[in-house]
Amino acid sequence: MEEWRKELVRKAFEAQKRSYAPYSHFHVGAAVLLKDNTIYQGCNIENAAFTVGLCAERNAIYKAVYDGYRDRKDFVAIAVVGKPDSRSEFDYCAPCGSCRQVMCEFCDPDAFEIILAKNEDEQKSFNLRELLPLGFTGSDMV
Ligand code: THU
Repeated sequence: MEEWRKELVRKAFEAQKRSYAPYSHFHVGAAVLLKDNTIYQGCNIENAAFTVGLCAERNAIYKAVYDGYRDRKDFVAIAVVGKPDSRSEFDYCAPCGSCRQVMCEFCDPDAFEIILAKNEDEQKSFNLRELLPLGFTGSDMV
């Protein structure tokens, strides 16, 4: 396992500790790696009006976009970790459909890697196209 993958997963676990999930009790952390080696972290942030909540993955990606990363080539990988309070062990936590669609907006479907992890050493990796085949993008609208 390459060291950068372990580091990205460590950053996702660090972010998971910031999760605000008093309703679902499911705590998620994400860390996005940019081409220049910058890492943005995000956690899920819930709300009493449930639908207003935000997933960890979008939190992290939007922070990068806010800071000016707009090129598909900028986005290298995202690590995602999550578990409910009721479990002590982590299982793989796959991104929801809305987060996959946001990745589709900003990331290269063939290059962007989605790393799901139980711990630093137990990881599985997919590219975006595997998790979102036939994704809808702006180029479909012209
Ligand atoms: N959640 C994420 O943040 N990312 C995922 O990949 C799956 C789901 C959040 C949304 C909500 O706050 C909680 O986990 C339960 O769905």
